[in-house]
Amino acid sequence: MTTQNPSSADGKGKSQAVGRGSFGGKLGIVLATAGSAVGLGNVWRFPYMMGENGGAAFLFIYMLFVFLLGVPAMVAEFVVGRHGQSSAVRAYSRISGNKAWGMVGMMGNVASTVILGFYAVVAGWCLNYLWCAICGTINVGTSEAAQYFSSFSSDMSSPVGWAMVFLLITHSVVSAGVEKGIERAAKSLMPILIMLLLVLVVASCMLPGAMQGVEFMLRPDFSKVTSRTLLDAMGQAFFSLSLGTACLCTYASYFKRDTNLVTTSREIALLDTGIAILSGLIIFPAAAAVGVNADSGPGLIFITLPAVFQQAFSPTVGYVASIMFYALLSLAALTSTISMHEITTSYIHERFSLPRRSAAWAVTVVCMVLAMLSSLSCGAMRIELAGMSFLDFSDFVTGQFLLPLGGMLTCICVGWFVDTKLVQDEFTNGGAVCRRLFPWWLFLIRFVCPVCIAAIFLHQFGLL
Ligand code: TRP
Repeated sequence: MTTQNPSSADGKGKSQAVGRGSFGGKLGIVLATAGSAVGLGNVWRFPYMMGENGGAAFLFIYMLFVFLLGVPAMVAEFVVGRHGQSSAVRAYSRISGNKAWGMVGMMGNVASTVILGFYAVVAGWCLNYLWCAICGTINVGTSEAAQYFSSFSSDMSSPVGWAMVFLLITHSVVSAGVEKGIERAAKSLMPILIMLLLVLVVASCMLPGAMQGVEFMLRPDFSKVTSRTLLDAMGQAFFSLSLGTACLCTYASYFKRDTNLVTTSREIALLDTGIAILSGLIIFPAAAAVGVNADSGPGLIFITLPAVFQQAFSPTVGYVASIMFYALLSLAALTSTISMHEITTSYIHERFSLPRRSAAWAVTVVCMVLAMLSSLSCGAMRIELAGMSFLDFSDFVTGQFLLPLGGMLTCICVGWFVDTKLVQDEFTNGGAVCRRLFPWWLFLIRFVCPVCIAAIFLHQFGLL
């Protein structure tokens, strides 16, 4: 979720300090940014990526990337945003004193729009499942669930319709600027989501045959690690933390001057990773118990979960639990889609001096077209690029390439092209916090992050 004050996003240097909203308390900041980070990336994308990459070894590499690359890059984005006090393109130009760096923000606009295009499709699937849960038709056996998922996702109209509904909801929140309400709602919803996930972990691990799934999740087999595993794990780390599209940079422009950027990013990374692991601990034991292959791809949670609700609970409890689950998942997705929509909306609003509503419409219409293509490419029509369905292609190009590239450029920009004193001031809040960590962090963003990301890219292209 964002707490952007629509009327304040004018981006004009001097008026910023006065006109721009800012986050309330410390909890508000962590939750607002966490609301963007926690979403389908944790509950839908992480388990299926992990399933396709052989389980525990992926988890291990993923966590390494989150804390070695993700957290430092997140702090770098925060530094740019809080210093820039404006939308991303201008913030990058401002901190580096060079307009060319604005292109990192521009790339972020493109990436977040493309992500929103396919994310809305999956969020639409969640809405449909919520609807079916309310109607009581979703908690069925595994083969029916698999059949239902494939016929639903390859339908011509229904998934497209749900994706449009989701985009319109996102649109109305972003253009009306009711983010405050969303933030308040998320404050109480996030703990409920975590509690429900915990209940589902227990329920799923108690199904007969579930232990095989737990083992899959926890016993690493490094012989399965390929260059693709590294790329997938890195992409997933960036995707899940909302990194690399200037989303966090936009948020950081609302942070207070005394916000501790380091502890904030650490807390968000811990929360985000915790929720991803809980999701894995629901999906894999359940998949093992009901005989679904872990590498079933994007449909994994939609095929596995209905059986959990049916088998682990009494019909009434299963009915209520499934409604709660899909409702919370849809809301978690909404707080993420709002953040993606907001980046480009505020940029267009600021750059072309368009009214905020028109800017929001421009983004929504482009995303609707992309969402339609993504949705139809799941089976209703052959819409392929580079041998992948349009949805998989958008996911791959953004997740595995644009986001790590955005993160790498952010690190290079902050590490090498910004006055170190200025960076140190932002990092330590003028010398007040985390002073001893600064040299370590600077080393990470100057050398470790760019080199690791570049090496993984080169390896993937067969050049290393
Ligand atoms: N992190 C979100 C999730 O896990 C998705 C997301 C929101 C995102 N904003 C983003 C991903 C910006 C990349 C860039 O679901």
